[in-house]
Amino acid sequence: MFKWEEKVVKTIEKHTQKDLVKEILLWKKKREAIILAHVYQPGEIQDIADFTGDSLFLSQQAAQTNAKVIVFCGVHFMAETAAILSPEKIVLLPEVKAGCPMADMAPAEKVKSKIKELPKAVVISYVNSSAAVKSLSDYCCTSANAVQVAQTIPVEKDILFLPDMNLANFTAKRSKRKIVPWPGFCSVHHLLTRDDVIKAKKLHPQALLLVHPECRPEVCDLADYIGSTRGIINFVSNNPTKEYIIGTELGIFYPLKKNNPDKQFFPASEKMICQNMKLITLEKILYSLKNLEPRITVPEDIRKKSLKALNRMLEIT
Ligand code: 13P
Ligand code: SF4
Repeated sequence: MFKWEEKVVKTIEKHTQKDLVKEILLWKKKREAIILAHVYQPGEIQDIADFTGDSLFLSQQAAQTNAKVIVFCGVHFMAETAAILSPEKIVLLPEVKAGCPMADMAPAEKVKSKIKELPKAVVISYVNSSAAVKSLSDYCCTSANAVQVAQTIPVEKDILFLPDMNLANFTAKRSKRKIVPWPGFCSVHHLLTRDDVIKAKKLHPQALLLVHPECRPEVCDLADYIGSTRGIINFVSNNPTKEYIIGTELGIFYPLKKNNPDKQFFPASEKMICQNMKLITLEKILYSLKNLEPRITVPEDIRKKSLKALNRMLEIT
């Protein structure tokens, strides 16, 4: 393709995207819908969202909104959480195949057997879990409040924490609680090694290292700050430092660069891409709004039980 042809294609694409966005906004109004997008979503989706943020912030928005329809641009457990919190609303996940491999590492049947082995343990499940697992849990937590939730449990109690062993480890260290970790992990964050981080630090010696608590303990040990995606975004906004190495999914670069044009951001590893988070597109959002599908629902008995665990978390936070 000649350069001028590429230019024409790009201009057409830009116009098509503009039309698509216009149509999405029209249908959003018609459906009295709200669009929630996780910060790992592609930039053009974050741009059309009513709210962007981490799982905690988005679940708070899902619980509070007066909208009739929630379009969740994230992965399955996030939409399911919205359906648990707002059963009277229509919750749409524009790509139903957008799952979380870590949530799948803790199937409800296996969790049930583990609970039988540890009958006295308090069960805390990370929101990155199925509704069925949440319904077996005493508390839910997100990466933003795991330490706070664990600290409400008496020190003498054992805590079964699932499904992320890295977040379990981080929570145990910070909360000084006895935690039995489930052997799950996020394939995106677990990919980041100590060597990757050492290399990035050598390349950018002035930069601060900010990582998500789903990273390995030996990676967290090297960090200047460990926090949820929203925590990382807030840290940068409130810090005068100009350079940062970021150890989380690369989607976060979009809000970081947009909000801080005077600062520089470097990935701790370019491999940190969650393919599931990239399955949602503007076309799929439009289809969802027009057809009110794919819809995410939770059976009422499971919903009621999981709501207790979620509400306990929301009350603490
Ligand atoms: P947050 O709690 O930061 O939103 O993280 C969610 C997630 O899926 C991280 O991998
Ligand atoms: Fe799941 Fe990891 Fe993707 Fe988050 S980044 S949705 S934990 S696989």
